[in-house]
Amino acid sequence: MTPSQTPQPSLQIDRYERGWMIAAIVLLATFALAVTVAGAAMGIQLPAPELRVNPQTVASEGPFAQPGVRELAPGRYEAYIMSQTWLFIPREIKIPKGSEITLYVTSKDVQHGFKLEGTNINMMVIPGQVSRLTFRAEKPGTYNFICHEYCGLGHAAMFGTLIVTE
Ligand code: CUA
Repeated sequence: MTPSQTPQPSLQIDRYERGWMIAAIVLLATFALAVTVAGAAMGIQLPAPELRVNPQTVASEGPFAQPGVRELAPGRYEAYIMSQTWLFIPREIKIPKGSEITLYVTSKDVQHGFKLEGTNINMMVIPGQVSRLTFRAEKPGTYNFICHEYCGLGHAAMFGTLIVTE
């Protein structure tokens, strides 16, 4: 056989398999486009580490030494929340309806989580790092914030409450 007579190897792909491969590629391209549009055009970002702190000293100096809520201006609040096994300090935060609160959360021991139930507020709480997210209190009610990262025996009991008053 001369080289010109060598049969060309061909990939025998089943019609259905080809269809699913195309569907998977289209799906991946759609996801990539959606993530790009959400991040670049709509400004949807993951909570980024706000700043670094020393977990050994964070409880004794700086804003986390006196965790709690501060009113910055009418309707604008900030809260510094310390996480430790197995509680959040403060355990309760109260703000009036219609206000905006920026939550700064850190941990002085192990990794915790912070999820404000019924909202899209959800952060990792990592020792040495401050996580920040802003919440607008539109509806009055009681919102529990829970630790969603397994942190030991008392993990299931680790929660606090944000109360939005009328
Ligand atoms: Cu803290 Cu789980």
